Amino acid sequence: MTQPITRLKTIIIPAAGKGSRMLPATQVTAKELLPVYDRPVIQFAIDEAIEAGAERIIVVVCDSKPAIREFLGDTAIASTGMAAGTPAEIVYVNQKEPLGLGHAVLCCKGMTLPGPFGVILPDDIILGRSCMSEMARSHREGQMIAAMKVPEEDTCKYGIFTFCGPVSGICIPVNGIVEKPPRGQAPSSIAAVGRYILQPMIFEILGQTPKGAGGEVQLTDAIAIATRSVPLTAFQFSGVRYDCGTHDGLLAAAIARQASLKAVRMNAPLFIARPSARFDRNSKAHGKDSAGSLHEPASRVLRGPK
Ligand code: UTP
Repeated sequence: MTQPITRLKTIIIPAAGKGSRMLPATQVTAKELLPVYDRPVIQFAIDEAIEAGAERIIVVVCDSKPAIREFLGDTAIASTGMAAGTPAEIVYVNQKEPLGLGHAVLCCKGMTLPGPFGVILPDDIILGRSCMSEMARSHREGQMIAAMKVPEEDTCKYGIFTFCGPVSGICIPVNGIVEKPPRGQAPSSIAAVGRYILQPMIFEILGQTPKGAGGEVQLTDAIAIATRSVPLTAFQFSGVRYDCGTHDGLLAAAIARQASLKAVRMNAPLFIARPSARFDRNSKAHGKDSAGSLHEPASRVLRGPK
């Protein structure tokens, strides 16, 4: 049996799209830099990439979004999670025109480290377990795309999988994938979302893939062609996905992020508060210090620092 990949050395983060669904917010601010409660959208992708073991993160940028590069710099250290403290190099590739996701990935040809690589679409935020790490642990061969069930009426917005056998389990063998099928013509209700494990051969295919839906070079079209020679797996991830390329999705992600931060604070280690030097004995009963500001009673068990 093939050994599982536990580490993806290269992860591509395409961030050169138009962001037209997020106008007017994206008129002067890149979609990838909009805040999700306390941090920009793209920071989630960077952390996920590092947690998956990336040594090199390739960010696809464009001239109209210089702030992405200013924000990220040339190395990244995860701010959270298991891999916190492990640095990765960040390299930038310029996509001159937003010709589609497939074209954005093609711009990275010759820049990936040997072996399969990951792609994280930053505006698809997946909270919960790191999706890219989950996929890398389950990956055995060929290519893999994160998958989730969507309502029938939404299938026209996604790449939709076709299956040869039963649709069950976490890793499901796939026959093919259709980008944004017209209403009523979707082969299933299982949709591709923005996490991929791809083989370097995809670059050759992308170079020959004609423009597809929306007049753009579609990554899913190239992956569909590749299924003729390499197996494709749909991976049902455990986290919750938020489409931060829409106003509603961004708001929902911010609310979920706020809730998860509050939960972390509630579970932070406890310590016994030491009475403050400024704490005035006489005002203790009133819960105020000598300066009159509100003060915790000294005996109260407080949460540790954030
Ligand atoms: P989207 O499909 O959300 O496209 O891209 P978009 O152009 O950004 O958004 P809308 O449809 O106009 O609102 C998914 C990811 O791929 C990147 C985007 O920046 C986003 O992170 N992308 C897309 C590119 O890097 N280049 C492209 O040509 C298209």
